[in-house]
This record gives sequence, C-alpha cells and structure tokens, in this order.
Amino acid sequence: MSQTAYGSQPAAEPNYGKVERPPHVAPELVVDFNYRDPIPPGEDNYIVLSRLQQQGHDVLWTPHNGGHWIVTRGEDIRWVQENYQIFSHEVFNIPRGMSRIIMPPLTVDPPLHARYRAVFNPYFQPSKVAAMREKARGLAIELIEKIRKQGCCELISEFSSILPVIMFLGIVDLPVERRQEFLAWGHQFSFAKEQKDRDAGLGKVLSYLNQVTQQRFEKPGDDLLSAIAGWRNNPRFNGEAEVTGMAALIFFGGLDTVNAAISFMLRHLAQSPAHRQRIIDDPAIIPRAVEEYLRRHGLSNTGRLILEDVERKGATMKADEMIMVPIGCSGIDNRLYNNAWDIDYDRPELLSDRGVPTHNTFGNGPHKCVGAPLARAEMQIVLEEWLKRIPNFRLDPDKPIRVHMDSVPGIDEMHLLIGA
Ligand code: HEM
Repeated sequence: MSQTAYGSQPAAEPNYGKVERPPHVAPELVVDFNYRDPIPPGEDNYIVLSRLQQQGHDVLWTPHNGGHWIVTRGEDIRWVQENYQIFSHEVFNIPRGMSRIIMPPLTVDPPLHARYRAVFNPYFQPSKVAAMREKARGLAIELIEKIRKQGCCELISEFSSILPVIMFLGIVDLPVERRQEFLAWGHQFSFAKEQKDRDAGLGKVLSYLNQVTQQRFEKPGDDLLSAIAGWRNNPRFNGEAEVTGMAALIFFGGLDTVNAAISFMLRHLAQSPAHRQRIIDDPAIIPRAVEEYLRRHGLSNTGRLILEDVERKGATMKADEMIMVPIGCSGIDNRLYNNAWDIDYDRPELLSDRGVPTHNTFGNGPHKCVGAPLARAEMQIVLEEWLKRIPNFRLDPDKPIRVHMDSVPGIDEMHLLIGA
C-alpha cells in the first residue's frame, strides 16, 4: 500500500471540467452528476442525490470535476469513512487541488492524525460544551425574539448562519462585536462561485487567524485557539501552516454544517404543525428529534484519495483516483431506514441497541466529527427556544426556497411567516 506523505497535497490546478471515461470504468456505472451544479428551482438536494440511488448500481463514476467515483448507499459510505488505509483524507475536496491549505487533523491520516486531534478533544468535553450551550442560548433567544416581533424573517441571514459564528467566537474567545466581519468572510469562502473569490475569502480568514494565534502564543488563555497556537511548542510541530490550518478548520468546520442542519430542521417544522406540537407537548423528545433531523439531513460531499486498487460491488477503482462520499445519501437510504424520507422521532432504528445513533452524518472512523456534541447542543437549543416563542410559523408561499448542493449542502434563502 502506498501511503501519501503528509503535506504533499497536489499543487496542480483543480480540474472542474469533464474527462474521458478511463477503460477500467464500466460504461454502465457512468452517471452525469456534477455536485457543483445549481439545484433547479423547486427541487431539493436530496432529490438530486436520490437519483444516484436509482441508477441500478451502488457505486458510480462521473466524468465531472476531473472524474471521480461516488458511493450512494449508507453501507458503502460507512465503509469508505472507516477504511482510511484505502481512502486517504489528505485530499478531501473534489476536484483535487481545490483546497489550498492543510487542515489538521482533517487532512491527516492515522497514525499521525491522533496527535493533532488530541489538541481539539479537550475543548469538546461535556463540561466545555455545557458552558458554550448557555452562551448559545442567550444569543438564540435574542435572535428569536427579534424575529417574533418582526412577524417574518429570512431565516438563513437572520438566524441560522449567525448562531454557529457566535459559537465559534465563544470557543476561541474572540470579540462577538466582530461577528458581521467573520460572517462576511465565511460567506465569501463558502458561497464563492470562482476559485479566486474563494481563495480571497480564505486569505482573509487565514491572515486574521495567523495574527491571533501569534498573539495567543505570546499570551495564552484557556481557549482552543491558545491550545492550537501552543502547537508551536510541540516537538512534532512541522511548520506554521499547521497552526493556521487547525485554526481555519475550527472556523469552517462548524459554520456551514450547523447553519444547514438548523435550516433543514426548521424547514421541516415550518411545514408540519403536528411535529411542532409534539415537541411543545413533550420537550423530553428534543434530543431524539435532533438526532432524527441529523439522520434525515446528512450533509457534506467530501472526497477521499484512493491509495490502492480496490473492487466494490462491481466497480474497479484504481489508486490515485478520487471518490466522493455524499453523506446525504445515507439518511434517505430506504435499505437502512423504514420510510427513510419521513421524519419520525420514534423510529426504532434511529439508535442502536446500545443507544448510539446509527446515522453517518458525523462521519465514522478516525475523522468522526469532534464538534458533534456542540452541533447537537446548538440544535437542541434552537428547538427549545424557538418553539417556546414561535409555536406557529410557515414558509412564505410567495418567496421560494433556494437550496444548493456543493461540498456542504444547505439552504441559501428561506422566508418564514410567523403566526398561524
Ligand atoms: C451538524 C453539524 C456538523 C456536521 C454534520 C459535521 C460533519 C462532520 C463530518 C462528516 C466530519 C468528518 C469529515 C468527513 O467525513 O469528511 C467532520 C469532521 C470535523 N468536524 Fe464536524 N460537523 C458538524 C459540526 C461541527 C462543529 C460545530 C465543529 C466545531 C466547531 C466541527 C468540527 C469538525 C472538525 C474539527 C472535524 C475534523 C475531525 C478530524 O479530522 O479528526 N464540526 N464533521
């Protein structure tokens, strides 16, 4: 097996175009799927993903974005996530070369992965998350009250994109007053259509984080950014890019994901008075409800670099090719879940016999999301505080929802009317 050397991300320009089918790819596995295509009006990213499951084969290949494999079923998604020996996380964006920076621990495979992950783990322990939870609650209440008084809102810009940024600022102890600036940087990076705009957004975040980690190195606090800055003292420190990359990962990791998770959850509730009532009548169901929304709305279409030739369900994959893991396919997989598309807080297969969530939304294996407890806490607070203050709300019928796929699927625009 050939392990790629850490830090050796290909510097080649990303190929966003189409390539010829290589001879080892069977013609019946080819699908015309470009995850960067806009979602047509009135459609949904999960409908687009479900078409992949209707092709008659579970492992597919698309010529778009330089050509890559796609796993479309929950069992294969988990198989890729767990088998880091075959599927390297060093290159996790498709096309290759799209990501310009290393972001340890995300871009490092075991065994080196653990040393970077150890910097993050203490900051997501229950006691830390409990403290952040209360911070999030205050802000959530403030935003919800404003929306309630207005009688309407555009949810993404007025609520769900704001909460994760504030949480990030709390974890790393940065001034909340600068949140608009951070939001703008994050948006420029996440929603840029051109690579140069994306790089410009990234550049602003990196240069700021670089400056702050320098300051924290000199005068450390007890926040995560200080711990990341302290990596410079670690005997295994391997260059400044590691420090800035770790800081960037914590900035970006919880931004689009939590935004999307909250937005999809409130989109469903806006259309289902029965589910709203269930939570109001029985708030103890909230943790399970959050888990069910996470299951149904799997996020992120990350890639892996294939390290060795491998066969799976009739597909012959070769070393040095890319494979996509569209986690959203897992939650709509009817082979895994009964009536997978339905939201059912009581579905028995939501948790294993040991009470562990069965979904793949936070990944599996070494890279399993370190921020999961925080994401869950934020979503729970939203359910607790929103439904207490705004028990009735619905989609504005005159303003259609806009949804995107990309690396992290989500909602761009969603207008809500408050009241029955
Ligand atoms: C609903 C919200 C979230 C979802 C769905 C999510 C999903 C994921 C997934 C699937 C991975 C594994 C990477 C992969 O398979 O390609 C991951 C890793 C990661 N996530 Fe999250 N995430 C969420 C929220 C957060 C938050 C709030 C933070 C921190 C503030 C965070 C920080 C990270 C970090 C640092 C990693 C890298 C872990 C490693 O490589 O060891 N995430 N996340």
